[in-house]
Amino acid sequence: ESPSHNTTEKLEKICHLLDQEFDYFNWTGFYFKNGDKEELVLGPYVGAVTDHTVIPFGKGICGQVAVSNETFVVPDVWEQDNYLACSLETKAEIVVPIIKDGVNIGQIDIDSHKKDPFTDEDRELLEWLCAELAKIL
Ligand code: SME
Repeated sequence: ESPSHNTTEKLEKICHLLDQEFDYFNWTGFYFKNGDKEELVLGPYVGAVTDHTVIPFGKGICGQVAVSNETFVVPDVWEQDNYLACSLETKAEIVVPIIKDGVNIGQIDIDSHKKDPFTDEDRELLEWLCAELAKIL
């Protein structure tokens, strides 16, 4: 479901904060499940405009996380067969699902222009963030 206006503002703020804090976070945004449909829709983000405003479940890194319910860290996106390129500059990606009451309702997606930049700490921070977000979404 699409978050409310107030929540959307919070998500925008989070995108901006993460974008400012980490120089290797070069596209930071949210995707949410589109109602009952087996697809993700783009939510708030900071970074280059993307063609991927709707992503079917199973497609790309994001679509795979929509069905796996697990964090997907991709050190080198060009080694992935099932990958949707947003920008030719992107080298790495991390996608963390937002699980609310056991249901995968969306995800945070971060692209990096750096190869293999994401640390265990980054992953833990983002998983903590998504757990917190699940409480207000
Ligand atoms: N690369 C993603 C698509 C979304 S863009 O990174 C913003 C994917 O493969 O699912």
